[in-house]
Amino acid sequence: MERWQGKIAVVTGASAGLGAAISEKLVEEGINVVGFARRKEKIEELAKNIKSKNGAKLHALKVDVTNEEEVVNAFKYISENIGTVSILINNAGIVQLTTLIDGDSNLWKKVLDTNVLGLCIATREAVKIMMKNNIDGHIIHINSLAGHRVPKIPYTNVYSASKYAVTSLAQTLVNELRSKGSKIKVTSLSPGYVETEIAEVNGFLMNAAVRELEAKAPRMYPIDIANAVAYVLSTPPHVEVTELSVQPVGELS
Ligand SMILES: NC(=O)c1ccc[n+]([C@@H]2O[C@H](COP(=O)([O-])OP(=O)(O)OC[C@H]3O[C@@H](n4cnc5c(N)ncnc54)[C@H](OP(=O)(O)O)[C@@H]3O)[C@@H](O)[C@H]2O)c1
Repeated sequence: MERWQGKIAVVTGASAGLGAAISEKLVEEGINVVGFARRKEKIEELAKNIKSKNGAKLHALKVDVTNEEEVVNAFKYISENIGTVSILINNAGIVQLTTLIDGDSNLWKKVLDTNVLGLCIATREAVKIMMKNNIDGHIIHINSLAGHRVPKIPYTNVYSASKYAVTSLAQTLVNELRSKGSKIKVTSLSPGYVETEIAEVNGFLMNAAVRELEAKAPRMYPIDIANAVAYVLSTPPHVEVTELSVQPVGELS
């Protein structure tokens, strides 16, 4: 991890769950983090209680990743006021209580705008900065096992499709970067079930069947994924973990 000391990482969706834990872990490792989220105040609250190494800081920016202008302006603000981005963790993600057979297309669009297009826009902005400054950086997409197999859980239709898109986008990004001779690394990190506010915030726990499944499900905790991110970042420059799946012991494949 030494080579990242004092460098800058952007973490999208840093106000809760995996993004908050990843941000905390990186600051504890001496990496400066700029957290994006709509609830900026939650990132500011988190920043107050972090045990930082070597003066690393957690900065909070109010950014909705579905708003292209906000994302572009945020990267510009970082370059002009904080420094050059070396790491991007594309973590912001949502799931919506909807179906394919009688669903609301606005809910489908929200999922795709956040999980797919938001990720693409943030990636484009970070890669531009890394290439312009000759930085062999690292882009980590927080994918999901739902991006590799369709979960037998109600209402995960468009969510799973969005994560399959992330699997594809990670591979395409590697190919595009290599065609330019870039050494920027790309990792798709695919967790199984992690206990966060994702199910509750998105209304899933209002459904009795899902509530029952959730209560019995083997689970990991956000720190487990933060540790996986730290492992991926700690690999030497010539090693690229292109895909890392992590699931709780007991979860079915
Ligand atoms: N929990 C799991 O079991 C699990 C498993 C596999 C993969 N994942 C993936 O892990 C990632 C994080 O999930 P989580 O469980 O930590 O969810 P969470 O607890 O609900 O947190 C989601 C985070 O994303 C942010 N976010 C959502 N929409 C956003 C937007 N439009 N713009 C900016 N930020 C936005 C939220 O911040 P604001 O609301 O403040 O904007 C929040 O910080 C997601 O990509 C999810 O698909 C989760």
